[in-house]
Amino acid sequence: MKTPARIHKGTPGNLRRLAQVLRRGGLVAVPTETVYGLAANALDAKACRRIFRAKRRPANDPLIVHVADLRMLAMIAETNEAVPRLARAFWPGPLTLVLNRRAVIPDVVTAGLPSVAVRMPAHPLLRRLLRLCGLPLAAPSANPFGYISPTTARHVQDGLGSSIAHILDGGPCRHGLESTIVDVRDPQRPVLLRPGVIHAAEIGRVLGVPVRALSRRRTAGALILAPGLIDRHYSPQRPLRTHRRISAAMVARSGSDEAWICFRRPEWAGRANNVFWLSARGGTHEAGRRLFALLRRLDHGPWIRLHAELAPPDGPGMAINDRLLRAATRRG
Ligand code: TXA
Ligand code: MG
Repeated sequence: MKTPARIHKGTPGNLRRLAQVLRRGGLVAVPTETVYGLAANALDAKACRRIFRAKRRPANDPLIVHVADLRMLAMIAETNEAVPRLARAFWPGPLTLVLNRRAVIPDVVTAGLPSVAVRMPAHPLLRRLLRLCGLPLAAPSANPFGYISPTTARHVQDGLGSSIAHILDGGPCRHGLESTIVDVRDPQRPVLLRPGVIHAAEIGRVLGVPVRALSRRRTAGALILAPGLIDRHYSPQRPLRTHRRISAAMVARSGSDEAWICFRRPEWAGRANNVFWLSARGGTHEAGRRLFALLRRLDHGPWIRLHAELAPPDGPGMAINDRLLRAATRRG
């Protein structure tokens, strides 16, 4: 058996050593403000193939490339007038832009697409690591393909501990939901590929044009456009059902082996041990931060089925509901 992954604190010495690992073509799981990512040098095809192997990710699902600054972005992608405007408004932060790629980016990163997805992350440890290696880092979420994204170093160790060697611990992720992805190759016709904490409407306001969303009906056809949109993503092992509202009566009618995730703490929760909530005060930011960790915890519990209440649409609410609806899609 291989030695299980080590969790490293973000000391200056550790960051220098991990930057060295990345420069030599190795993998490091890294904290971001959204979820933990599994990083490799984005310019090194062999290193990036290791990401696919460790995650058991299909080769047709492209990676997001993380950059330290706009100079690094210009090295790997063609910029246009949308880039500086969105960068000023949202970067560093949880927004990913799909742009035309440059030839330095190997095919394995983009799954052969003519475009590349790029973002400038906000987590201070990842920013330091990016500057220390001086390289763009390709990093998908650091989970086995199809499972719930990790929001702590421990989650990464639980899922990938036997297939990678290094995890940089940056604490629990601030947002807990993957970045918003928007295709801005044509700045006049931006397309939302994945909802996140930053709303399509906010992006539209900055660009001065509305952002179209790919409808769920078109999702299957969009497989090539945004493979991360395939249903059955972010899935717990237990079947999950979503509900507009969860009431005391619904819980009372169910078996005690079914777990209920309310959006906020219901006043009727009492001492029921199968009732959980995403947010004590009913805030969507807190709920988003806790969603994946709670799904994981319940997925390892004694429950035969999970139920979750949809969030109100403010703040990260729509992204929460997007992840819940995908997690609830029945496995084929
Ligand atoms: O917040 C995040 O975005 C996290 C952290 C680690 O940065 N990353 C993340 O990566 O969620 P991942 O691999 O789980 O999702 C990346 C998704 C792909 O599944 C695909 O949908 C989309 O990004 N993507 C990547 N390159 C693309 C491209 N060229 N065109 C369209 N979509 C692309
Ligand atoms: Mg992912």
